[in-house]
Amino acid sequence: MQHAIEGTYNDKVVRQFAVMTVAWGIVGMLVGVVIAAQLYWPDLTRGIEWLGYGRLRPLHTNAVIFAFGGSALFATSLHVVQRTCHVRLLSDKLAAFVFWGWQLVIVLAAITLPLGLTQGKEYAELIWPIDILIAVVWVAYAVLYLGTIAIRKVKHIYVANWFFAAFIIAVALLHIVNSIAMPSSLLHSYSAYTGAVDAMVQWWYGHNAVGFFLTAGFLGMMYYYVPKQAGRPIYSYRLSIVHFWALIAVYMWAGPHHLQYTALPDWAQSLGMVFSLILLAPSWGGAINGIMTLSGVWHKLRTDPILKFLIVALSFYMIATFEGPMMSIKTVNSLSHYTDWTVGHVHAGALGWVAMISIGSIYSLLPRMLGLREMYSTKWIDIHFWVHTIGVVLYIASMWIAGVMQGLMWRATNDDGTLTYTFVESLNATYPYYLVRLAGGVVVLGGMLLMAWNVWKTYQQSSAVPADQPALPPDPHHAVMPATARAGAQA
Ligand code: HEM
Ligand code: HEM
Repeated sequence: MQHAIEGTYNDKVVRQFAVMTVAWGIVGMLVGVVIAAQLYWPDLTRGIEWLGYGRLRPLHTNAVIFAFGGSALFATSLHVVQRTCHVRLLSDKLAAFVFWGWQLVIVLAAITLPLGLTQGKEYAELIWPIDILIAVVWVAYAVLYLGTIAIRKVKHIYVANWFFAAFIIAVALLHIVNSIAMPSSLLHSYSAYTGAVDAMVQWWYGHNAVGFFLTAGFLGMMYYYVPKQAGRPIYSYRLSIVHFWALIAVYMWAGPHHLQYTALPDWAQSLGMVFSLILLAPSWGGAINGIMTLSGVWHKLRTDPILKFLIVALSFYMIATFEGPMMSIKTVNSLSHYTDWTVGHVHAGALGWVAMISIGSIYSLLPRMLGLREMYSTKWIDIHFWVHTIGVVLYIASMWIAGVMQGLMWRATNDDGTLTYTFVESLNATYPYYLVRLAGGVVVLGGMLLMAWNVWKTYQQSSAVPADQPALPPDPHHAVMPATARAGAQA
């Protein structure tokens, strides 16, 4: 088997998505900072409708999940599939279509959401014509990705691809089923579902958007970039297969934990709780598999800030996937639901897990895509790591405390059965925590700007490399594969 050389692969689309990860990360987090500030200073945007909290909040969630997280997933999946299958992407034209199509979706979202055009379903707000565009681009992506696997030059399909493929197939299914609607005009439609069924379909979608968009694809990143950066094969390949099937089998059933104490039948709520508790096992098993990959090379954590990003991401993943099952227990949920505890949980997953594994992976792949060995400044990556970590801790710790406090204040009663606190008293008590959260957000955003600067300087450095100078030697990507898979790859 011949090693593929640089230039054999389509790295252009990987670079494009990598750069947009940083750009959309900054935009999405900036909007996050603005809405965090609005919760502290409600009059901040002076009543301008399209800058109101209700308009900007979905803009934030869409920008960070689908633009930032999405770009990171496209960049890494299209990088990993080529390197582990030893083959160029199925089609360069299709790759360009996926890139520009996705950017169009994001721009349309950024226009329609501030205008108040929405279907009102969380994480599925976009109006029906954009939903159709998303479905088209996503199917093109599925054809590109799965088609590349189909023409692979090695027999073995490395486990990272299993996770990426599951993410792509599941998101297509979720998006199409949840978006079925009857249009009443170009900008408006009615959901095909009604009442409790509509709620259940929506949270089947919402929870599996967490499970497949915000988790499975990022686990694909873990299975490639952690071994790659550590220079060691994954701790246990067998565990990775068990991890995959267990996660896929369990996630789909846990959605009802978003609808505890609602009109949903009680048995469905309990089912959601039980499957959420079971989900702890595959989640932690997978994270431990990633972390233990460092056994024997723990010292690298001292000197490699990219590894720090990747491993601390896994620690936050473990925090979020411990906390989630606890919050799905009905008695715990009766306290946590509606409070900022949920928001703290979300950002332990989003800022701790999703953002950190994405940032680490982009730092790892981008210089290689530019024919360089490393980013312009490793020291800045280290500063970014510390800045980001401090920001995340400020964010989630303040929301945990605020959330538990709110829950306890709302349920406190006097001896005569009346409420001890009014709602406004709980709001007043929350203000200091909103300020701490805002500070955390500003710090995280500052880290992203540092990343943008580092990316800019790295690009400048790469254009300084003369065109005829040979780029890096072939990518020793075999390092990520276990011996059995390597044998297959050599065949
Ligand atoms: C600078 C960083 C960030 C800041 C300051 C920030 C701030 C916020 C604020 C203020 C809210 C509204 C909370 C509420 O309704 O009370 C929110 C919601 C949300 N954010 Fe962020 N965010 C940041 C980064 C991210 C990232 C990177 C992601 C995902 C990858 C994310 C995902 C979400 C989600 C899913 C929600 C909705 C939570 C819910 O409905 O419970 N955020 N964010
Ligand atoms: C074992 C894994 C997990 C379980 C069982 C779980 C469980 C839960 C529960 C019980 C809630 C609160 C529902 C409510 O009261 O409304 C919740 C909310 C949420 N979780 Fe998780 N969680 C897990 C992992 C994660 C991870 C890793 C992320 C992010 C990457 C995440 C993102 C979210 C989001 C965005 C929400 C808020 C949804 C909304 O109301 O808008 N979860 N989760």
